[in-house]
Amino acid sequence: MWASVPEAGDERVVYRTYGMVAADSSAPEMLYASTVIEPGDVHGECFMTRGHFHTDPLRGEWMLTLRGSGSLVLRDRDGKAWTESMGTGSVHMIDGRHAHRVANTGDEPLVFVVTWLADCGHDYETILREGFGLVVRR
Ligand SMILES: [Fe+2]
Repeated sequence: MWASVPEAGDERVVYRTYGMVAADSSAPEMLYASTVIEPGDVHGECFMTRGHFHTDPLRGEWMLTLRGSGSLVLRDRDGKAWTESMGTGSVHMIDGRHAHRVANTGDEPLVFVVTWLADCGHDYETILREGFGLVVRR
């Protein structure tokens, strides 16, 4: 399980991810995970996942929302960002060229499942440096 806190000094865990670790991250093994994001915000910005690009733009990701409501935030390499609405049963295919993160916009936990190929590679650094350029508020 991975967990994240909203900001330095705040001990609340705002999301947890339960999933698999690749046996071989250079092989196209299909992996999956579920994530639960708690409802809430930091200075008005909804709790969200960190977000990342895939280093292999040909490797996308598939997402299914099980419960709650949220916003799938997407961003291309040129900095253009947009959102897709998430709700119970919604399915999203994330293009491998687009960074992605999820924000909980509702009043209950947001639960979703993702699948991806282990050799997609993860780039969190670009988002840490540049952000998404888009804030999700309720
Ligand atoms: Fe991903």
